Amino acid sequence: MNRILVTGARGQLGSDLVMALRHRFGATRVIESGRSAPSENSFLYEVLDVTDHNRLQAVVDQYQIDTIYHLASLLSARGEHNPDQCWHININGLRNVLEIARSHHIKVFFPSSIAVFGPHTPKLDTPQITVEDPSTMYGVTKVTGELLCHYYADRWGVDVRSLRLPGIISYSAPPGGGTTDFAIEMLKAAINHRTYTCFVRPETRLPMMYMPDAIAAILMLMQADPATITIRSSYNVAAVSFSAAELATEIQNHLPDFKCDYQPDFRQAIADSWPSVIDDARARADWGWKPTYDLPAIVKDMVSKLSPTPYPLLHPEAQPCSPPPLQLSNPF
Ligand code: SER
Repeated sequence: MNRILVTGARGQLGSDLVMALRHRFGATRVIESGRSAPSENSFLYEVLDVTDHNRLQAVVDQYQIDTIYHLASLLSARGEHNPDQCWHININGLRNVLEIARSHHIKVFFPSSIAVFGPHTPKLDTPQITVEDPSTMYGVTKVTGELLCHYYADRWGVDVRSLRLPGIISYSAPPGGGTTDFAIEMLKAAINHRTYTCFVRPETRLPMMYMPDAIAAILMLMQADPATITIRSSYNVAAVSFSAAELATEIQNHLPDFKCDYQPDFRQAIADSWPSVIDDARARADWGWKPTYDLPAIVKDMVSKLSPTPYPLLHPEAQPCSPPPLQLSNPF
C-alpha cells in the first residue's frame, strides 16, 4: 500500500512529482510537506521542517507513511550564501529521514546531484564510480548524503534509492537557487523580454534533463525490483548536455529576435567544476533508464508552455479556472 510523504513538496521538483504521484497512486495517497504555511488550495499538506525529528515522526505516524520522497534541500548557489544552513538542512534532514525509515521500514527516494563531482572528476562520460571532490557545500552534502544512503542500505537494510540529477528544466514551479538555473531563466526571459544576460559563459556545457524525463526516472527507479538495484549511493542519470550558447541558438529558432549576452558571476566557477556529459550506463542496464527529450524537443515544449495564450479570449468568464480542492475528511 503506497502512503507517500513528499518533503520539499513546493519546490521545483516537488511540484511536478506530487502531481505525477497523485495521478499514479491516487490523490489521497500523497501527503505534501514543506516549511511554508499551507495555501488556500492546499490538499493533504503538512507544515514540516525536516530537521525536526519529532515532527517528522509525528507526520509519518499520523498518515502511516511507507514511502518518503525526500526532496527538501538547499541547492548549490543558495548553499554558498549560507553553507551552515545548507549543511543543517541537507544532512540533518536526511539523517532524520533515514533514521525514521530504518525504524518504520520506509522506502526512501533521495535526489543527489551532478554537484557531487568536482575539478578532478573526468568531465566527459563521467563514470558511475569516480572521483567525487565537490567545490560547493551543496556538493559536500550530496556526497555525504550518498554515503549515508549507502550505509543505511548496507548496515540496516533500508530500501533507499537515489539519482544524481542534472539541471532540471521545467515550467510549473521556479527553480530553487541552483547553478543550472540559467537554462530556465534564459527560456523565460527570451519569451517575456527577448533578451537575457546569462551568468555563465557561452561555452559552459552542463548535463540537463526535462522535467517529464526526471519524473519518469524517479518513478522507474522507485518501482524497480529491489534485486536490480546495484547502486545504493546514487545512480548517474543523463538526458542531454548543451552549452549556454547552444541553448540560445535553439531558442532563436523559435524566437529569431532573441538576444543573449554573458556576464559570468560566482556561479561560473561552480559550473566549471561540474562534468559536461555523464555516463549513465549502469542506470540503463539495471532498471532500463532511457530519456525521451533532446534539446530541440525541450525548447519547443517550453516555448509553447511558457508563451502567452495565442488568441485573445472573447469572454473573460470563459477563462479556465482551477478545480475546487478535494474535500476528504478521512483520506485513508
Ligand atoms: N540543479 C542543481 C544546481 O544547480 C544541480 O543539482 O544546484
